[in-house]
Amino acid sequence: NYAKFPVEDLIEERVEKRIVTMLRFLGAVGSELNMPTYIVGGFVRDLLLNKKNLDLDIVVEGNANLFAETFKKYFNIKIVEHREFLASSMFFNDGLRIDVATARTEYYKKPAILPEVEMSTIKKDLYRRDFSINAMAIKLNQEDFGILIDFFGSRKDLSKGIIRALHPLSFIEDPTRILRAVRFEQRFGFEIEVRTAELLKQCAAEGYLDRVTGQRLRDELSKAIEEPLPLKALRRLASLGVMEKLFPETEFDRETDIRLQRYFLRRERNALLIGEDRMFYTLLMIILRKSDSKSVEWCIARYGLPKNYLERLNDAIATAGIIVNEKPETPSQFYRSLKTNKPEILNFVNSYLDEQEDLLFLAYLKKLNDTKLSINGNVLKTRYGMREGPEIRDVLDELFCARLDGLTKDKEDEFVREYLKGRGWK
Ligand code: CTP
Repeated sequence: NYAKFPVEDLIEERVEKRIVTMLRFLGAVGSELNMPTYIVGGFVRDLLLNKKNLDLDIVVEGNANLFAETFKKYFNIKIVEHREFLASSMFFNDGLRIDVATARTEYYKKPAILPEVEMSTIKKDLYRRDFSINAMAIKLNQEDFGILIDFFGSRKDLSKGIIRALHPLSFIEDPTRILRAVRFEQRFGFEIEVRTAELLKQCAAEGYLDRVTGQRLRDELSKAIEEPLPLKALRRLASLGVMEKLFPETEFDRETDIRLQRYFLRRERNALLIGEDRMFYTLLMIILRKSDSKSVEWCIARYGLPKNYLERLNDAIATAGIIVNEKPETPSQFYRSLKTNKPEILNFVNSYLDEQEDLLFLAYLKKLNDTKLSINGNVLKTRYGMREGPEIRDVLDELFCARLDGLTKDKEDEFVREYLKGRGWK
C-alpha cells in the first residue's frame, strides 16, 4: 500500500557520476548481507527538486554497524560507530561521508529526550521523521535500484509545496521541528499545511521548546537565518508565537523588524569591508537591545553565549546611542565615535541608520578599509625624535583621521610636522 516510482533515470541525470557509483555499491553491499538498503531524507527530497545535496543518509533493514564493517572490506574508510543508535558514519579519504542507520522506531520515554531505539522496517523509520517531504526512500539494492518509495503522499506534498507533519505528536517528540518547519517553508517557498501549523502553534504555546537544550535551538535558529530569506523566517516564527518562547520578555515589534531588515540587507555588503560577523550574536543583540540585564543573562545561559556578551551588548547600545546623537558625517567623525572594529557591533550600530545615514557609514567603512598609514610609531621615534608614550598614539590617531578625510599618503610627513609644530614641538 504505497506508491513506487522509478527514479533511476533521474538519479543518472541529476547526480554526479561518482555518487551514483557509490549508491550502486551501497546497494550491492546491502544485497550481499541480505539487507534491504535505502537512501532517505533530504537527498531524496532534493533529487526530486533538482537541487544538489551530498547528505548521504542510508537506512538498512538490518544491522547498520555490520553493514559499515562489510563496506570497509572494499573501501579504505574510517568508521565511527554510534552503537546506541544502531548507526555508523563512514568517512572516505576525499572528504565524502555516508551515514548508515538501522531502520528504527523510536520510543520517546519523555518528550524531547533522546529516544530509545528498536529495529523496525523502513516504513516505521520514515514515519517517525519530521515532514512528509523528508520521508521518502529510494531503494538501492541492485534488483530494485532507483525505486522511490512513497508511503505518505510525499511526492504530492512536494509538488504542491506543502510542509506536513506525519503525525500529531511530531512536534512534541522533537520541538526543534518547529524551527525546521519554518526553515523549509522559507527555503523552498512552501507553506506549512493548516493542521500542521495548528499543531506547531499548540506545541510552542504549551512550552515544549523549554524542554529542548539551548544548543539545539541555537543550531536550528542559526540554520534558519542562514537561508536566503532570514527576516521572513523570523517574522513567521514571531507570528506563530515562537519568538516569544525563545526569547521571553522581548517584543518583536515594528522597530525590531526595521532593524533586522537593515541588518540582513547590509551584512554581506559590510562583510567585504569589516569581515563576517557571527550572525547569531548580532541577531540577538538586535532582539535583546531593550531587554533588562536579567533577560539578557537568561539568554546567555540558555544559548551558551560568551560570558562577556552582556558587556558587549551594552557597549554596542552605547555606541549606537553616540552615533544617533552625534550624527557623524565625515569618515573621521565615524572613526572617533565608533572606536571598535568588531563586526557584530558595527553591524548592530549600522542597523540604527536610515538609508541616508547608511551611505555615509558605508563611505566610512570603505575609507577605513582602504587606509593604511605609511608612518608608524618607529618612524615617529627615529625621524621625529618622539619618545615612547601616549603622544605617539595621539599623533598616529590624528594622522589616521586626516588620511580618512582625504589627506594623501605623500602628505603624511608634512601633516606630522605641522601637527607637532602646533603642539610646540620643533
Ligand atoms: N529529521 C527529523 N527530525 C529532525 C531532524 C531530522 O525527522 N528534527 C530527519 C528528516 O527526515 C531529515 C533527515 O532526518 O530529512 C536528515 O536531517 P538533516 O540532515 O538535519 O536535514 P535535511 O532534511 O537533510 O535538510 P538540510 O537540507 O537542511 O540538511
